[in-house]
Amino acid sequence: MTKVNKMLERALSIRRPPHAVESVGAAEDDGGDETGDVSKTRKHMSIAVRVTNYLTRTGYFWPIIVIGLVIVIVSSVIIHSRDLVCISASSSDHISRLRFFGFDALESDFGSLGVPWCRSKHGKTVEWTYKDLLKGLEEFVPIYEMRPIKNNMHGMGFDHSFGLWFITQWLKPELMIESGAFKGHSTWVLRQAMPDTPIVSLSPRHPEKYLKKGPAYVDENCTYFTGKDFVDFGSMDWGKVLRKHGITDRSHVLVFFDDHQNELKRLKQALKAGFKHLVFEDNYDTGTGDHYSLRQICDQFYIRGGGHSCFKDSDEARIRYRRRKFWEKAVDVEELCGPGEAWWGVRGQMRDDFNHSNKAISYAEHFTNSRFLESVLDVYWELPPVAGPSLTHQTRYDPARTSAPIVEDGRYRLFQRLGLSRFDTSVFNGYTQMVYLQVSRPET
Ligand SMILES: C[S@@+](CC[C@H](N)C(=O)[O-])C[C@H]1O[C@@H](n2cnc3c(N)ncnc32)[C@H](O)[C@@H]1O
Repeated sequence: MTKVNKMLERALSIRRPPHAVESVGAAEDDGGDETGDVSKTRKHMSIAVRVTNYLTRTGYFWPIIVIGLVIVIVSSVIIHSRDLVCISASSSDHISRLRFFGFDALESDFGSLGVPWCRSKHGKTVEWTYKDLLKGLEEFVPIYEMRPIKNNMHGMGFDHSFGLWFITQWLKPELMIESGAFKGHSTWVLRQAMPDTPIVSLSPRHPEKYLKKGPAYVDENCTYFTGKDFVDFGSMDWGKVLRKHGITDRSHVLVFFDDHQNELKRLKQALKAGFKHLVFEDNYDTGTGDHYSLRQICDQFYIRGGGHSCFKDSDEARIRYRRRKFWEKAVDVEELCGPGEAWWGVRGQMRDDFNHSNKAISYAEHFTNSRFLESVLDVYWELPPVAGPSLTHQTRYDPARTSAPIVEDGRYRLFQRLGLSRFDTSVFNGYTQMVYLQVSRPET
């Protein structure tokens, strides 16, 4: 052993913690079996001493220690940065939801249980692109910050407010019709999109009635059919209303429904009146909601992502069961399927009028409804959610039944840059697949 080696070994033995010296001594005192281990320990130590000695002599000791430390720090930052995105200000429930699926899984989670998309007559789609939506979001966030009704529980949240604003300012209608006004938030959204265009609003209760209890919005350029003047959309003399507003082409009118009525009924009424551009706020997924929706109508075996199995041992049943615990609107097969394994609509029911009316329909009727819808559909476009749940912290819609969001999970910088991180998380908890339709009479 060289002089340097001896010095190093002495130095190491001095640094060795006292209990380590004691335990070696104790093992020796006990004699017998432990002696082999002691000699092994010594052998390992002498290898370590030789390696350290070699590195010290060649001058690589400190550079290798520094490189090692850098590798450890960098890999630890990479591993934990994924969590940093989700953890900020989130509830433990939210974190467990993300951990359950894993962050990577979340990114590809959207649509994993199928997103039934209604078939249009000629496969036409909307003109706007992802880039347009992103640009729209940038413009809309400061507008939404100015909303008069900050807490719009039971009305639209951020996602659908953006959707309605975006579609309206893109289409630039000459008249906007709204069915279902509540405190007037959606009227306000329509007004932001088209500052000078007249609005016709139908709702049993005038929004001003809510002013007694808190904020509400009443528009100056809006004709209200409310209170004793209330007329249901299906009973309105639209010819008279349109003449009064100087509208000659009904394709220049946008109709917005947020009245929780059977959407097949509303669609037929809108077609009869000759309207072409329709927006339905609550486009509930199969098994959920208080009225028959377009999404439900298009949920058919022959549609990609459509049709369901009530078999309790199926993959779908297992996946649904797990997801039920994490997303309020997710339904497991027990909830999805009604008597006779009826999964369509809501447990085989066609619901209407806030579920004050519900009628059991056969699968044959449900199928016929979808064929009718296809015969009048020119465009079907579901608004995507504005951002992934790791960003918005929404707990309601199940991403597995939803198309990919505009701002995807993991894009926290973009979410922040758009100003979306400034909102209370509750505004993101109202997404139910708002849909824009372009319709025309069936071709013979
Ligand atoms: C969910 S709220 C509308 C929310 C509103 N659009 C918003 O974003 O704040 C549903 C509204 O529909 C109204 N309503 C009920 N039956 C209706 C009908 N047949 N026609 C129009 N509105 C109806 C209710 O009184 C209620 O104000």
